[in-house]
Amino acid sequence: MHHFNYRQQVLYAEDVDLREIAAKVGTPCFVYSQGTLQRHMKAFEEAFKGLDPLICLAVKANTNRAVIATFAAMGGGVDIVSGGEMYRSLASGVPAGRVVYSGVGKTIREMEMGLEKGILMFNIESIQEMHMLNQVAGRLGKKAPVSFRVNPDVDAKTHPKITTGLAVNKFGLTMEDAFEQYQVAKALPNLELKGVSCHIGSQLTQTSPFADALSRLVDLITKLREKGIQLELLDLGGGLGITYDQETPPKPAEYAATLRNTLEELGMRPVLEPGRALVGNAGILLAEVVVTKKTPVKNFVVVDAAMNDLMRPSFYGSFHGVQPVQIRKDQETITADVVGPICETGDFLAKDREVPRFEPGDLVAFMSAGAYGYTMSSNYNSRPRAAEVLVSGEKWAVVKQRETYEDLCRGESLPDWME
Ligand code: LLP
Repeated sequence: MHHFNYRQQVLYAEDVDLREIAAKVGTPCFVYSQGTLQRHMKAFEEAFKGLDPLICLAVKANTNRAVIATFAAMGGGVDIVSGGEMYRSLASGVPAGRVVYSGVGKTIREMEMGLEKGILMFNIESIQEMHMLNQVAGRLGKKAPVSFRVNPDVDAKTHPKITTGLAVNKFGLTMEDAFEQYQVAKALPNLELKGVSCHIGSQLTQTSPFADALSRLVDLITKLREKGIQLELLDLGGGLGITYDQETPPKPAEYAATLRNTLEELGMRPVLEPGRALVGNAGILLAEVVVTKKTPVKNFVVVDAAMNDLMRPSFYGSFHGVQPVQIRKDQETITADVVGPICETGDFLAKDREVPRFEPGDLVAFMSAGAYGYTMSSNYNSRPRAAEVLVSGEKWAVVKQRETYEDLCRGESLPDWME
């Protein structure tokens, strides 16, 4: 569910006419619905009610500070994977005690930062990382709160590029290694064993892989309890899918229902790291048609957004709905590729799609662009990054300025021999 709906043939974000935003801010621009963000957060809270869940936005999906702050105000935490994400999250008002740090390559500087700020938990992904963190914590006179991220070798049945819980993936420790390393870690002076974590993949459309992963974690937790190791937090990662096209992913309630009994029996506090399910359908990418063209074999609609703004179609072949901002009377449709101006054949936003017969100047909304949209954008072809706008009811504000040409050159200089 989201709050992008037509009123008298015009697409609105909550109570705001998208034409108004385009006129004042320009295109391309990302528009987020705060009501949708809040609604999604509430759905997770309700679903896990009574289990004292900590719901941590996977910040990689959307790093805008206004978005992070929206969830922080509701008691949410964050799942981060870099010092930059930690910085942004703390700057957005997320208390350090609600920050979970995942990632296979945390640097010493990043470990120090997390320890100095006092984050909730480091999800350790390798044996070397465990020893490095123990050393760094010792040097700072701190105890590092840790979990091991285990790789349960469960097939998430999603796109290969976003599967993370298979034995061939780089993430986490095997069950066997984790069992052994918890016992090693227990004896290390500067680590505090806090939890166990896993994340098996993204855009999951079934509950069974989550249930399988949890049951493997239960085996591990039971064996650890027999060894006298008690853990408080059970971090199940993110991964719940959303509807881009025809998918029917489980709702948070259904997802939680699959896990509830086990969580209650274990008596551990669940930590969740949803990204896409919180922000995906809460955002769109608004663009304008530049030209249309017809070749002997195809129709093309060229818009002012491109793969640098929304990389998902090029990179994963992902589907994003293409909606006209204004529906014309007796609108004809054509089958076309909707493409950007970038000099690559891979630069497309939709392929062989039935779309209205657009004309130059028409506004187009690319749906479900709130997750992994802006955060994966780049300056390729020296295109300034788009603006970001947050809408709440009738109110709206620019929450990230469009980059300028000066921004593109910031920090660049000629070496002294060329001056
Ligand atoms: N936790 C960890 C440790 C993760 O690696 C991820 C995503 C999440 C949570 C959040 O997963 P979500 O709830 O959003 O599925 N760029 C890709 C998605 C990559 C996901 C990477 N990890 C895309 O655009 O589909």
